[in-house]
Amino acid sequence: MSYMIGIDIGTSGVKTLVVTETGKIVAQATAEYPLYHPKAGWAEQNPEDWWEATLATLKQVGEALGSDAARVKAIGLSGQMHGSVFLDKSGNVLRPAILWCDVRTADQCRYITEKVGREQLIRHTSNPALEGFTAPKIVWLQQNEAQVYAQVAKVLLPKDYVRYRLTGEIFTEMSDAAGTLLLDVTHRRWSEAVLKTLDISPEILPECRESIDACGTLTREVAEHAGLPAGIPVAGGGADNACGATGAGIVKPGRVLSSIGSSGVILVHTDQPQTDPQGKVHTFNHAIPNKWYVMGVIMAAGLSLKWFRDNLGHLEKQMESLTGTDAYDLMSQQATPTPPGAEGLIFLPYLNGERTPHADAYARGVFFGLTPRHTRGHLIRAVMEGVVYALRDSVEIIRGMGIPIEQVRAIGGGAKSPLWRQMQADIMQLEVATLNIDEGPAFGAALLAGVAAGVYDTVEEAAENTVRIVHTTEPNRALVGLYDDYYGLFRSLYPALKDRFREAAKLEA
Ligand code: XUL
Repeated sequence: MSYMIGIDIGTSGVKTLVVTETGKIVAQATAEYPLYHPKAGWAEQNPEDWWEATLATLKQVGEALGSDAARVKAIGLSGQMHGSVFLDKSGNVLRPAILWCDVRTADQCRYITEKVGREQLIRHTSNPALEGFTAPKIVWLQQNEAQVYAQVAKVLLPKDYVRYRLTGEIFTEMSDAAGTLLLDVTHRRWSEAVLKTLDISPEILPECRESIDACGTLTREVAEHAGLPAGIPVAGGGADNACGATGAGIVKPGRVLSSIGSSGVILVHTDQPQTDPQGKVHTFNHAIPNKWYVMGVIMAAGLSLKWFRDNLGHLEKQMESLTGTDAYDLMSQQATPTPPGAEGLIFLPYLNGERTPHADAYARGVFFGLTPRHTRGHLIRAVMEGVVYALRDSVEIIRGMGIPIEQVRAIGGGAKSPLWRQMQADIMQLEVATLNIDEGPAFGAALLAGVAAGVYDTVEEAAENTVRIVHTTEPNRALVGLYDDYYGLFRSLYPALKDRFREAAKLEA
């Protein structure tokens, strides 16, 4: 039996899985690292922290495997998208990495949009300039830290930096390159036009291969440290969303991923690159050669409920420590008896601003429609429903692009809650499936490693052999009208409040 390793370089930590060819997890390890906010809106990490955490998890899984470590055929990498690691010509990191959730680049996004032209940008890269993407970060460095920029020999994405340390090789692959705003997503090559207009040398970008290509081999030094076989291939791997989709079997048209983790994602597989002319959803390359996906991202999904638990759920947290019942389950128990629609209470989950569909860093969270009748249970229901209304925004845009949506596969913390699953089915009016595996991007990365090592012929085969639906939640048809009305009201609130959010931001400062 062959084993594959999947490593996901997440925002809060690294997750490393060892997966058998039938999809069984035989060892796993995680290690956390800090996220720094040196200024308001900045989000940075130290690439050395990613590397140390990766080494620690590899050592742990190597020890857990013992003599079975010889079965490991390949490693696959996944990681947080868009982050920029700037290296000098000796391969040293020049400054902390600037992450996907860093919003310092509003001016650079305007500059890029003006210089390239909004329509041209979407034509060349399939996406508009958004603060999280990589190109605005490179331009920020050009404009704000010119001495550092002058020393930049390569710009790497987070997982590709870890690859460099694992193999000594510098590569990226299509799915992560797609999030830089420098890839011609349709033609699968760096966009000469955009690079030239932004005065970015193509030399600083890594060679871009496919997710299933071998991109380097494990060095003897790392192999010895972790007790793993030296020389095994390290697959291209993929962006965390592409790997998460792969690991949930989103490998065919019609299948949609609905992920409620800290952030929320609606992602649909496409056989051709399909671009939203308004650029409200992203069009990126999938981890499957010659396939794409369209994705909407909301910034605070699980994070909204966590905010409620941490700030207003002290009772539930105390009960959890006394009885062992999870605080989220206790919160769900209170929300369950309240009626769908929370009797007129609506929550806008824009605690961290919003990406899809508003692309507005100034948007803020709102409870709308409070009355004395509303209880704690109503508030909790409203938070959960508000997250699903926000996800439905992406579903509506994707439907409007003519992309088929047949089956929703729910993953993340939100998929574990029966109430949240039912809300997804009812508010989107779609069947919601849960899977035998919910291990996130590291699992998809392991499948890509399996293809690179020849364990499977294709990514589709890898996913179909390992991922199964174990449960489905049917939509309650009787709620169509009610939820359509509430969703309509939800949609009308952002435009009404847009300018007020900006005023509030001025007062905050
Ligand atoms: C996608 C995005 C996030 C990060 C998080 O565009 O910014 O989902 O990939 O890891």
